[in-house]
Amino acid sequence: MIPAGKQIFFAPMEGLTDGVLRRVHSQLFGGVDVYGLPFHKLTHTFSLSTREKRDVSPAENAGLSVLPQALTKDAEQLRRWLSWIRDLGYPMADLNIGCPSPTVTRRGRGSGLLAEPDALRRLLDGVFDGLPLPLSVKTRIGFESAEEWPALLELLAAYPFSHITVHVRTTREQYTGGVHPEAFARTADDPRERFVFNGDLRTPEDVRRTLDTFPHAAGVMIGRGLLADPSLARRARGGKPASAEELRAWYTALYAAWAGRFGASIALGRLKKLMVWPCESRPDAHEAQRLLRIIRKADSPEACLAAVRPIDP
Ligand SMILES: Cc1cc2nc3c(=O)[nH]c(=O)nc-3n(C[C@H](O)[C@H](O)[C@H](O)COP(=O)(O)O)c2cc1C
Repeated sequence: MIPAGKQIFFAPMEGLTDGVLRRVHSQLFGGVDVYGLPFHKLTHTFSLSTREKRDVSPAENAGLSVLPQALTKDAEQLRRWLSWIRDLGYPMADLNIGCPSPTVTRRGRGSGLLAEPDALRRLLDGVFDGLPLPLSVKTRIGFESAEEWPALLELLAAYPFSHITVHVRTTREQYTGGVHPEAFARTADDPRERFVFNGDLRTPEDVRRTLDTFPHAAGVMIGRGLLADPSLARRARGGKPASAEELRAWYTALYAAWAGRFGASIALGRLKKLMVWPCESRPDAHEAQRLLRIIRKADSPEACLAAVRPIDP
């Protein structure tokens, strides 16, 4: 059981954690305090896509605590977006300086800003000068190397972010290998308990150990772990692992909602993409391959459900 008062965030994952997934997850499993919304890519013309507008609409997020997120290097754009988010009724929003995609970083956005401390400082000076809404930030620990972290942390800690989520990898490390949990220890020097740990938390034990090791953490953010085991946040709070029946209900509800929104073919594609996560994370490699084959070959949601296995306690 994790200590009271620690928050669990569902990490934003573009193309995966849409409004349907957030709503069904909270209804069936719970345990998550805040759902991160995948980033809005801001432009000079402020033209958000239909999908981005729907994703952030209050109707799409009714009854959920969500954290909208922006990707930009321009303070004026960010302030304008924050005013709009405030007018939609949200109490807080997030700035993404962690996205490692080369198409994003090449243009100096996302974690591209980590390689340009002066540009990052300009953005933050500009946005905190008359901030319309409390702002949090999601970062990595450096662009090329973890050695950049102390200076980067000092830079970020100088601003009144409501919280700071740290994915304990560099941009170069993308999403696999090279995780640096020890880098999080430095955040204990900040007088405010506002740092959230993110990166490779896959089991309730991982969550508990992280919060034991870093008692100053405000909480944890979990992404792929919750895709592989949607009951992970509930389990971290002492609840039970998902049964096969619950998982079937989860995938069936997701498919039905996606089919209603996008049509059967796209819904099946989304379902298959999501179901790869629990299969891949099975401890027995043979079993994992067998289940992945079932998903690959499936031509209906019912055929996909043959790959469902209960979460091991
Ligand atoms: C497919 C995918 C899409 C992602 N999209 C976003 C995003 O829109 N905003 C963001 O801040 N992070 C995004 N991330 C990063 C995750 O939020 C998270 O920081 C990362 O997966 C590490 O956490 P985990 O090991 O718990 O998954 C994405 C990650 C993946 C795998």
